[in-house]
Amino acid sequence: MIILKNIKKSYFIGERELSILKGINLRIHKGEFVILMGVSGSGKTTLMNIMGLLDTKTYGEFYFMDTRVEDLNDEALAGFRNRHIGFVFQQFFLLPYLNAIENVLIPIVYSDKEIRHPREKARQLLERFNLADRTHNRPAQLSGGEQQRVAIARALINDPDLILADEPTGALDSKTGGEIMELFRMLNEDGKTVLVVTHDPKLASYGKRLIRIEDGTISEDITT
Ligand SMILES: Nc1ncnc2c1ncn2[C@@H]1O[C@H](COP(=O)(O)OP(=O)(O)OP(=O)(O)O)[C@@H](O)[C@H]1O
Ligand SMILES: [Mg+2]
Repeated sequence: MIILKNIKKSYFIGERELSILKGINLRIHKGEFVILMGVSGSGKTTLMNIMGLLDTKTYGEFYFMDTRVEDLNDEALAGFRNRHIGFVFQQFFLLPYLNAIENVLIPIVYSDKEIRHPREKARQLLERFNLADRTHNRPAQLSGGEQQRVAIARALINDPDLILADEPTGALDSKTGGEIMELFRMLNEDGKTVLVVTHDPKLASYGKRLIRIEDGTISEDITT
């Protein structure tokens, strides 16, 4: 699904090159559940944003679903993202003036994918995540864990193959965080490829593969 060959990412501050990713080699296959760990500043978000087609590499080869990413223009990239990837973030990023079901439906607007009966599908997703009685609540009326479950439902409405989650439990207490990880495990068992970034070692056991990144390089890659 994803092939990274010697991927590097640098920022240039004036003349000075700031090297963030220093030659990442990685393959992620369909059906995997990967936990990406590393301390703050090690490059987790940078790597995830490249894999999610939200950011570009400086160097190396990158294939997403057998397509060489640098051959895609902005429109094609957006299409790939909408069709294949569901994103989950630490801060949920729900729209405050929309209720739960309306938030779940947002990606439908931007998608060229044919989703039949989207509203019914959104309702089913919320029901599955124990939010059946919360469909008409706005984010401010929901707990953090509930907001994140709405955000995960939103990530799923377009039937993505890949779910990318950057610190999805970072704003939650550990019990609620564990519940969110359980949910990712369930989605993985349903066939979704899942990649979760965290710096919490207690959450590592939820995945089937653990990749550790240290200062822009992969220091450990174990399948459990
Ligand atoms: N646009 C940018 N310009 C310059 N430096 C950047 C930029 N974006 C990120 N960096 C730097 O790249 C490094 C890695 O950042 P990244 O966000 O990938 O880390 P992270 O592992 O996700 O950390 P955290 O756990 O705190 O989220 C950091 O030192 C950061 O300051
Ligand atoms: Mg980060």
